Amino acid sequence: MDFADKTALVTGANSGLGRAVAQALAAGGATVLMVVRDPGRGEAARAAIETATGNPAVHLLVADLVAQAEVRRLAAEVSARWPRLHLLVNNAGTAYPSRRLSPDGVECTLAVNHLAPFLLTNLLLEQLRAAAPARIVNVGTRINYAMELGDLSWQGRRYRMMRAYVESKLGMLHFTRELARRLRGSGVTVNCVFPGVFNSNLGGTDGAQGLFWKSVSLLLGWALATPEQAAERVMYLLGAPELADVSGEYFGDRRIISMPAQVEEQAANARLWEISARLTDLDD
Ligand SMILES: NC(=O)c1ccc[n+]([C@@H]2O[C@H](COP(=O)([O-])OP(=O)(O)OC[C@H]3O[C@@H](n4cnc5c(N)ncnc54)[C@H](OP(=O)(O)O)[C@@H]3O)[C@@H](O)[C@H]2O)c1
Repeated sequence: MDFADKTALVTGANSGLGRAVAQALAAGGATVLMVVRDPGRGEAARAAIETATGNPAVHLLVADLVAQAEVRRLAAEVSARWPRLHLLVNNAGTAYPSRRLSPDGVECTLAVNHLAPFLLTNLLLEQLRAAAPARIVNVGTRINYAMELGDLSWQGRRYRMMRAYVESKLGMLHFTRELARRLRGSGVTVNCVFPGVFNSNLGGTDGAQGLFWKSVSLLLGWALATPEQAAERVMYLLGAPELADVSGEYFGDRRIISMPAQVEEQAANARLWEISARLTDLDD
């Protein structure tokens, strides 16, 4: 796919799906902004992508997305250096094995998987509108449990890692629907993708992968898809000409899949938006 003259930002770009997407965008000629939290691992990935693709316009931006101050600093840096942003891929994701609070006092899995993309996207809307036609792709997952909107930070219920992960990922779907509604007519589309199940380090850095999961992925890794195969789904959403006006949808492998019932209720999408804006101090 040809992405020459496009500027694309990918979060979680040093590993797994994000890295594969960053490399495919670089191969297509885009200016690629790789957001990572670890400068050492990030620079190793950036240099490897630059070497593999011969594209010198691959930039590293360091931000730990668990902290809203870092998200705001990242957005300010992007706005100052790249006033037009054509493609935004909200890919970074993780799971924390036990309940932990972020510097902003919210549960960390929710902070990284839902509130960070919510805040970052909102802070970059001006740059996306300026680049229209522009596309946003949010990375979701297929198993989705209803979010406990009254207790998003797990104060009054026993924390369970998988439940926290899938609830936070449902946030991506609510967010996609509501943002698409708000962006109607702007030339900026937003869709969510289920990338399939593939071999990666998901949650590993935050201690979520115990010995059991590490062994499973070592033994069965060959049977799972690769991040590069998963990236094809994202690249389709970023580049397919037939999707120019498609927004607010959930995609599997190049086709629309059904949204969970809760996301079909506009009131629930609006309610999560309002809570997220409050939790991120976003003027809405
Ligand atoms: N693997 C699957 O089967 C699967 C299935 C459905 C959906 N997904 C989704 O696919 C996306 C990519 O995951 P993956 O499987 O490719 O796993 P991965 O290799 O661990 O990639 C996740 C990326 O997110 C980054 N990240 C995590 N927390 C961060 C933070 N606080 N600040 C900045 N970056 C942070 C990670 O950085 P570090 O390297 O520093 O940890 C890493 O670059 C995630 O949203 C995941 O939920 C994956």
